[in-house]
Amino acid sequence: MIVHKKLANGFACIEIKNSSAEATIALQGAHIFHYKREGEEPILWLSEVSDFEAGKAIRGGIPVCWPWFGFNEDKTLPQHGFARTALWEFVCSGEVDEKTTSITLKLTHSDETLKMWCYKFELELKITISDRLSMELKTTNLDRESFTITQALHTYFAVSHISDVTIKGLDRKPYLDALTWKNEVQKGDISFNQEVDRVYQEVDGEIVLIDKNRIVHLKNEGSSSVVVWNPWIEKCSRMSAMKPTAYESMLCIESANAFDDFKVIKPNESHTLRATIY
Ligand code: BG6
Repeated sequence: MIVHKKLANGFACIEIKNSSAEATIALQGAHIFHYKREGEEPILWLSEVSDFEAGKAIRGGIPVCWPWFGFNEDKTLPQHGFARTALWEFVCSGEVDEKTTSITLKLTHSDETLKMWCYKFELELKITISDRLSMELKTTNLDRESFTITQALHTYFAVSHISDVTIKGLDRKPYLDALTWKNEVQKGDISFNQEVDRVYQEVDGEIVLIDKNRIVHLKNEGSSSVVVWNPWIEKCSRMSAMKPTAYESMLCIESANAFDDFKVIKPNESHTLRATIY
């Protein structure tokens, strides 16, 4: 089942349901903000106080950070790029079989994007919903010049309690600590008892999120950087569209091309970032 819907304020969403899972995607940002396997609790975290409004990023789900990750040197430009607040176009959807549905959305350059980033592009997100959630974010350069991007599929995972989770798969990986801007090396698995904002590098294997009652896997391709973020108490109380206690029930593991893992894309060439959650 694929249903195109509009909220009372005109905010457009697509609801998908098949025999293995369900998902909801906003046309703004191609933003998946709900994904749940049949008979299980939602895998994605969504803020109870998120905006669903034109021009404001949804807090939770999987924001698409593009064509830059984090701050731009030009501080008047939005953090994490403009793709997450731009209105994407529906391209196609299909029921592959009774357990699998796919949907493709795209964003192309416009007068508005050219003012913020002076390149012509096509950005396509193909989402496949089954007992796995797969995303393929393909950037194509339609310009006459090469361009450089950084990006992320900024997944907010729902967790039972932040103190109860462990992340495996990043042991011995170098990382940039975005709180101190120092380069460090991970020792052992990751657990949380303070604010964490790190860009892991040289990541090639599977990442495993171990929670009290479930284990979630994440595998990326076309990417060697992963951002791990939890705002903890103080930053959470200052974050927009988040309740002060929200940090307890969420954790971001972001499939990225960030910092040194930037991608240079030549005219008529493409780069695809793939992430699968299972
Ligand atoms: C993470 C960054 O990717 O996104 C954090 O590492 C940032 O530093 C977080 O706070 C949320 O960003 P935003 O723009 O959605 O508030």
